[in-house]
Formats: sequence, structure tokens, C-alpha cells
Amino acid sequence: DNMKLWGGRFTKETDKLVYNFNASISFDQKFFRQDIQGSIAHATMLGAQGIISKDDSEKIVAGLKSILEDIESGKLEITDEYEDIHTFVEANLIERIGDAGKRLHTGRSRNDQVALDMKLYTRDEIGNVDEELRELLQVILRIMKENVETYMPGFTHMQKAQPVTVAHHFGAYFEMFKRDRSRLSDIFARMNYCPLGSGALAGTTYPLDREMTARLLGFTGPTLNSMDSVSDRDYLIEFLDALSIIMMHLSRFSEEIIIWNSNEYKFVELDDAYSTGSSIMPQKKNPDIAELVRGKTGRVYGALMSLLTTMKGIPLAYDKDIQEDKELTFDAIDTAKGCISLFKGMIDTMTLNKDIMEASAKHGFTNATDAADYLVRKGVPFRDAHGIIGQLVLYGIEHHKALDDFTLDEYKAVCDVFDDDIYDAISLKTCVEKRLTIGAPGKSAMDAVIAQYEQYLAE
Ligand code: ARG
Repeated sequence: DNMKLWGGRFTKETDKLVYNFNASISFDQKFFRQDIQGSIAHATMLGAQGIISKDDSEKIVAGLKSILEDIESGKLEITDEYEDIHTFVEANLIERIGDAGKRLHTGRSRNDQVALDMKLYTRDEIGNVDEELRELLQVILRIMKENVETYMPGFTHMQKAQPVTVAHHFGAYFEMFKRDRSRLSDIFARMNYCPLGSGALAGTTYPLDREMTARLLGFTGPTLNSMDSVSDRDYLIEFLDALSIIMMHLSRFSEEIIIWNSNEYKFVELDDAYSTGSSIMPQKKNPDIAELVRGKTGRVYGALMSLLTTMKGIPLAYDKDIQEDKELTFDAIDTAKGCISLFKGMIDTMTLNKDIMEASAKHGFTNATDAADYLVRKGVPFRDAHGIIGQLVLYGIEHHKALDDFTLDEYKAVCDVFDDDIYDAISLKTCVEKRLTIGAPGKSAMDAVIAQYEQYLAE
């Protein structure tokens, strides 16, 4: 027979298929630590309030600690003869300490218990995801610092646009992941209120000290509406949203790595340890990790859509639909953490083909804007300068020449304002180094931003 907490009013055994359909232990065992942590706080408070005796409270806390130890050491195995992790822990406690164990659930429902467990679990995972992001940012910053003067084409519409640097390009991703971290900390601050003590939905008649349990568990304070407390999963939706945005950023970055690693671009080469081969084509070295990160993004978006849809029709307060919050959230968290970590290793070990990047910037007429600006400085109106350089670009395309490689005669044939100083004015170095507005790729602008990033990561 299955172990249940609610057999009293029933005269018939639960149908086996119904039992399995309803049971959650196969996945909610993931938060056994948090379940025990919450129960310890609850029992401590019950004792302090005189709702149960000090002696029972101490026995419960000791019993719960021994269960935690035994699960962690592998001595106690979580089995599916229990409906959920809450039942498993309570039944085990009663086995260990007898009657005192039966007093643990005084003034509590599994509804506020599971709301608490899920919050405690999510809170820990917000911290873990944040740490993964911090480590990724360290790798990005390392690459930035080494490549302040590594020139590459910047693109719009996937067409070469203006020259930038590798530091500048990677810095764009630094900003994205920095925002992701700040999103996580916003979510943390908003969610960090304790639902324990809300009971099934309407609080309880026992004089629970909700301030005390909230404090013991590191929350800012208790939640203020017991019906909302047991049915609020906004924080999970927000977390899945943050994870989706993180994945979207990783996916964009992956897409670029895939393009850069292609035979046509060769901007980067992925390390052998982060690439895979083909079973039939011996020459292949595939960017599977980047492709999988891009692919798994769909899975995390799916979790967000799934939970939003589950929650949309739920009348107050708790309904069993809410149990569906777990598997998809767990999967999304583990997927995102795995992706951040692997992505970090992949870019940390990849080689930048700096010469190829620089040659690509040079040969894509990425300095055409600067050539036009040169004419403007010599008094030519910008619209006319734009036309003149357009003609020169056409000439360059026809003769397979970069602007840097024209002779002065070739320049003068189109416009006699050109002089010897054109070469310096349109060199890659000049094009990048003259861009010194805040956030631009020029060295001193970039150095200033890098100094801010170093300080940010040191905090
Ligand atoms: N397994 C349930 C969940 O995850 C725990 C809460 C059960 N509450 C109840 N009234 N059946 O939501």
C-alpha cells in the first residue's frame, strides 16, 4: 500500500493509475533539502510559540537533521511509495521519533509547504545562475582585454558596415549578460517573501509567528495574503522569462560563433575539445555545442509558455494544476545552467584568427564612411562626399581593390580634393581609434569601459 497523509476520509484505495498520475515524488524529491529546511524553521517556531512543547520541537529538528544527513550520504533512499517529498519526509520522521513527528504539520498545509519549498529552491537557483553568468562575464572580459586593438568588421544586415574591434563586439554581450544578472536580482528582491504560515489558503487559528519563520529562512518578511501565497507562481514565470532572455542572448552569440567558425569566414576556430566530427565526412569539425545551445533555447521558451498557459485559468487559491510548475522549471534551470557553462568553456578555448578578421574588415569597404568624412573635413558637403565614395567603391569592386590600395591618381580621377593624407585617414587603425564617444570602439573609450567592467566583477 502507498503511504498517504490523507487516508482518513476514504473507504477505497486510490486507483493505481490515478495514484501515479497524481504523485509528484519522482520530481519534487529535487527539493528535499529545502523541504527539510522549511520544516526545521516551522518546528522551531511552533516550539518557540508554545504550540508544541520545546521537547517535541527539539526532537523534530534533530530527526529532520538526521533525515537530511541520511539522504545526503545515500543511507536513506527516496522511493516512490510516497506520494510526494513532503509525505516521504514526514513519514520518515514519524518512523524515527514517533509521536513528536506527528506534531510537525500543526498549522501547516502542503499548499504553503510546497509554495515555500519551490521558493527556497528557486532562490538558490537564482544564485547559481547568477554565479554561472559571473564566470561567463569573466571569460568575456578576458577576451576583451586581450583584443582592444584586434580589428574586425562590424555588421548590419549581415553586410560589412564599419570596422570595430573584437573587444567592442564581445563587449556587446558583456552588456547583455550584465543586464541578465540585474534582472535576476530584481526577481530575487520581489519574490523574497515567505509563504509559510498561509495554511491551505486561509491562514490558521494557531498563533504562528510568521515573522520568525520568514527571518529564520532568510526572507525579507512574510507574504501578506494567504490565498495569493499558496497560488502565486509569478516569480517562476519571471525566472523562466529571465532564463529565456539569457538563452536568447546565448543563442545570438552561438549563431555568430557558428558563422565565424564556418569555412567561409574562418574568424575563429573552436577547440577540438568543443567540436565534434562526422561519421561519414572525415574533414568535418562541427560546432555542435553552439548549435545545441541555440537549439535548447526553444526548450526554455517552451517552459515559459507552458507555465504561463497553466496559470492562466487558475481560480483562487491552490489547484492541482500548479503542480505542473515543477518539471518544466527544473528542466529550464538545468538546461540554462548547462548552456551557460558549456558556452563559457567553448569561447574560453576558441582561437581568434586575428589576421583573417582584420583582412575582412579591410576588404569590405568598412572604411567608406570615414573616406566620406575625410572629404567633408576638406569642405565637400556630406551628400556629395557620399556619392564620390560610392563611385570609388564601385571602381574597387570592379578592380578587386580595397580603398586603401588605390593609387592617389585613382582617387584624383574621381575627385581632386584627395591628397596623400587619405591613406592615414582611412586606415583601419584610424577608423577605429577616432571613434571615442562613450561606448565606441576607440581604444581610450574601450579602456574606460573595461575599467568599469573590472570594477563591476570585483564587487
Ligand atoms: N505536490 C503538490 C504540488 O506540487 C503539493 C501540494 C499538494 N497539495 C494538495 N492540496 N494536494 O503542488
